[in-house]
Amino acid sequence: MFEPEKFVEESIKTIRDTIKGKAITAVSGGVDSTVSALLVSKAIGDNLLAVYIDTGLMRKNETERVEEMLKSLKINYRILDRKDDFLNSLKGITDPEMKRRIVGERFIRNFEEEALKFGAEYLVQGTIAPDWIESGGGIRDTIKSHHNVGGLPKNISLKIVEPLRDLYKDEVRKLARHLNVPVSERQPFPGPGLAIRIVGEVDREKLEILREATAIVEEEIDKSVEKGEIERPWQYFAILLPIKTVGVHGDKRAYGYTIAVRCIDSIDGMSGTFSNIPYKILEKISLRITNTLKIVNRVVYDITHKPPGTIEWE
Ligand code: XMP
Repeated sequence: MFEPEKFVEESIKTIRDTIKGKAITAVSGGVDSTVSALLVSKAIGDNLLAVYIDTGLMRKNETERVEEMLKSLKINYRILDRKDDFLNSLKGITDPEMKRRIVGERFIRNFEEEALKFGAEYLVQGTIAPDWIESGGGIRDTIKSHHNVGGLPKNISLKIVEPLRDLYKDEVRKLARHLNVPVSERQPFPGPGLAIRIVGEVDREKLEILREATAIVEEEIDKSVEKGEIERPWQYFAILLPIKTVGVHGDKRAYGYTIAVRCIDSIDGMSGTFSNIPYKILEKISLRITNTLKIVNRVVYDITHKPPGTIEWE
């Protein structure tokens, strides 16, 4: 039986014995990176710096939510606003793999810079057991080059510390509850963020549209789940397509974007079936998107299983 109290006590001791100097960690707001940062922070205080990089590719209010959490947990943190850097680097890029590589590379570069400034000798990572047991084993790595905070960085000259290395997700969740870390039941969100949900070139306008559409899909599905109308899908989100189509706004011709809505049921993300969302709920989503975002005049629902489709569109 996993005993969180005992684990915290032993882990703080081990961390104090291991880290003799300054340590740095990247946090995403997810439970693994937050819990591992908190454990190390309890052990070495402000000798740990938790870095959150605002890539500009995050969901609505995501940065504010993460900052609030870090503050309340009293972790020494820094938010790096690197929106311009990421957006400039993505200018003119339409190839999905290239987008992934650029986001991953900019992430590492910005993080390294901060590590150097802080004088860190140790890198704390929120790796959990399935991350390394299955590393490289899944088919997904051959299909898309995944980037996430847990897997960063690969060739940095820092000593790696992984306090959660032997734990499974349910144990991390138990630990999180014990440590008063708000355990989010939020759906998985990919490291490259909204960049891989804008098909084609990413720019500020498209990001704003997609951020709002994503928030609407999340809110409407969450509401329906709370009312007991549907089971919570594994993931539910919006995608912005690079095609404009003709529509009408009032009595005027409009020429606007298309938003695709993807809701998918899955156990582990490796395969899945599109969710059977009742038309009434899809209608609400569609109406809210087109009423809020006048530049969008078409909403479509993705009815593709995985395989052959992947969950993300890029
Ligand atoms: P696909 O699109 O390959 O996605 O069917 C499977 C699961 O992985 C998530 N995903 C990512 N997660 N970094 C991540 O941390 C990534 O680069 C990445 N790409 C996809 C996707 O949201 C789904 O849960």
